[in-house]
Amino acid sequence: MGKLVKSTIKSDINHSARLSVAPMMDWTDRHCRYFHRLISQHALLYTEMVTSPALVRGRALHLLDYNPEEQPVALQLGGSDPVELAEAAKIGADAGYCEINLNVGCPSDRVQSGTFGAVLMRDAPLVAECCAAMIAAVSVPVTVKCRIGVDDQEPQDVLPDFLQRVSDVGVSRFAVHARKAWLKGLSPKENRDIPPLDYAIVQAMKQQFPELHLSLNGGVATLDDALQHLEAGLDGVMIGRAAYHQPWEVLHGVDARVFGAEAAHKTPQEVVRAMLPYIDAHVTSGGKLGQISKHMLGVFTGRPGARAWRRVLSEGAHKPMAGTALVEAALSELD
Ligand SMILES: Cc1cc2nc3c(=O)[nH]c(=O)nc-3n(C[C@H](O)[C@H](O)[C@H](O)COP(=O)(O)O)c2cc1C
Repeated sequence: MGKLVKSTIKSDINHSARLSVAPMMDWTDRHCRYFHRLISQHALLYTEMVTSPALVRGRALHLLDYNPEEQPVALQLGGSDPVELAEAAKIGADAGYCEINLNVGCPSDRVQSGTFGAVLMRDAPLVAECCAAMIAAVSVPVTVKCRIGVDDQEPQDVLPDFLQRVSDVGVSRFAVHARKAWLKGLSPKENRDIPPLDYAIVQAMKQQFPELHLSLNGGVATLDDALQHLEAGLDGVMIGRAAYHQPWEVLHGVDARVFGAEAAHKTPQEVVRAMLPYIDAHVTSGGKLGQISKHMLGVFTGRPGARAWRRVLSEGAHKPMAGTALVEAALSELD
């Protein structure tokens, strides 16, 4: 790939990263991303984490399946072996993902035992080595999602050192979940809420590393909040739970307000109708409606009929033969 093409792709994806939907295991699967893409054509979407052992040793290539209409999509990898991560990154880039992201933020026990995720905040040289190996293997951007520290680390000491070492090998974009992970005594779920948020340190890192593209993650509940962080000088905002639970509320203004583009759909009903051919194809090929509709339950949150929409789908989606007719029936509860 020519240098010009490479740098054009990188700047396009950096632009998309102004607003991204966070990687979330069991949530941001391909169906969820297809649905989110109908709401925002421009936000950068992340996969669930896929581990490098699963791809390289387990050859679980089905984990990379996606629909090209989801693009731009970044593949998040978990791992800590540079050679294996490089191979996994190459498999991901060859599959068409536009970015490879390394998970340095996930605190779960399973992940710690494999020495990856947030525990890697303790080993910036190893993260740098992993990223250097991945950068050498692919021509798409390699990025990192990290925490501000773990356990008793002092973020103001550890985070600048981490960003310096990892950017020295060529990583220029980071998403920072603005709280520590406590690796002992808190569940992964608690680790998303209990350690306090520290947005100021992410702002300070932007002052200290103006050349890096820094996205802030953690606790951003609305698009207005996200825009405030962008106006305050951050390069990007990554939204997780709020985007999943209230996809229309949080994502529908993104194309106009973040990217200056026209939104593809004007109402949540339109988005749901635009999902029908996708749902039909999935169900016809043997898939279950519930695998898709579970991601759509929150699309009418705050609107009249939202509760009935959820109920009709939740009660019916697991039944044999459930398909687009059930979605139409749920929609009729809103009219
Ligand atoms: C169900 C769930 C699964 C998650 N899985 C991942 C993951 O695979 N990789 C990752 O880096 N973070 C994962 N996270 C963390 C999110 O990416 C994000 O950092 C966190 O939820 C904070 O952002 P928020 O407050 O906007 O949700 C997960 C979060 C949730 C709720």
